[in-house]
Amino acid sequence: MEHSSHRQRGPHRHVTEALHFDGDVLRAIDQTLLPWQETELELRCAGDVVDAIKRLAIRGAPLIGVAAGYGLALELARDPLALERASDRLRAARPTAVNLAHAVDRVRSAAIDAGPGRAAGAALAAAQSIHAEEEAASAEIARHGADLLTAARRVLTHCNAGALAAPGRGTALAVIAELSDRGHLDAVLVTESRPLLQGARLTVYELARLGIVHELIVDGAAAGLIASGAVDAVVVGCDRVAANGDVANKVGTYGLALAAGAAGIPFVVAGPTSTIDPCCATAAQMVIEQRGPDEVRRLPAVSAAAGARELTLSGTRCRNPAFDVTPAALVTALVTERGVARPSLDGSVMALLR
Ligand code: MRU
Repeated sequence: MEHSSHRQRGPHRHVTEALHFDGDVLRAIDQTLLPWQETELELRCAGDVVDAIKRLAIRGAPLIGVAAGYGLALELARDPLALERASDRLRAARPTAVNLAHAVDRVRSAAIDAGPGRAAGAALAAAQSIHAEEEAASAEIARHGADLLTAARRVLTHCNAGALAAPGRGTALAVIAELSDRGHLDAVLVTESRPLLQGARLTVYELARLGIVHELIVDGAAAGLIASGAVDAVVVGCDRVAANGDVANKVGTYGLALAAGAAGIPFVVAGPTSTIDPCCATAAQMVIEQRGPDEVRRLPAVSAAAGARELTLSGTRCRNPAFDVTPAALVTALVTERGVARPSLDGSVMALLR
């Protein structure tokens, strides 16, 4: 990694802070090592941030947007001529979560508008605004989601849509934490979320720190448990929402939506409006990230020093889409900081942006 180093973090705090800006360095917890090791990365330039996003040390749609904004500001402070090159590199770090492009474009515009000599300061101010807005959005999403789900006492979530994925308490996990705070929650089921185990590693880590009782299930158990009546609502995050309400989220989400629909329980998607892409009329225009085969062939390493565990014959051919698409018709509600849309109704999602 360029210009970065590791440092052990202090004792557990209840609220996980995935990243914070510290003068001339972006400090971010290395999510590839959680929950076994709490290690902080020090990111000092756009290249450091690109690398951290690509290898999923920083991940989750809103969080990669925030990190990329700071990455561009850090780079401009080092090299005032780096704006276009750094913007292109950051934008291309991951293709599906639209928050990344939205944040880079906003920080880039702020730098251009400020003009030479003031660009770096304007870029940093824009990055900090994005960070603050996403944190505020998390609190509103929690409130709207908990208001919507007053009847849900047993929820199932997929991947990680908590504080490790978005500022504040996250998106789907913020709703779940708010339900818990209101005393409405009896059970949380967490899917492992293969291949990189964001549920088993990250959501379990966050729920344990929050003191919210939960059970981990293998991905293949989810549909049967939903059909058996063990779940009142499925609540997930999102990486990109099309204008018509189609949702891209962690691979496996579509199957959960089908199971929820068949069982007649709500399938609720939570995310900030920065995840809505008005340029995508439907999910057909979205690029779904395809990742390498070793993520499927192996289990994540439990420490920086340990090797990954082989799961199959080396060289086995694999297909590894990181996300899938849930059609709008299967989404009961999209919970954002501006309120709740009903994606199955024409125009409901776009009305949030007006
Ligand atoms: O590949 P990841 O771990 O970045 O995927 C993350 C997800 O799919 C989350 O559910 C999504 O970004 C919502 S985060 C609040």
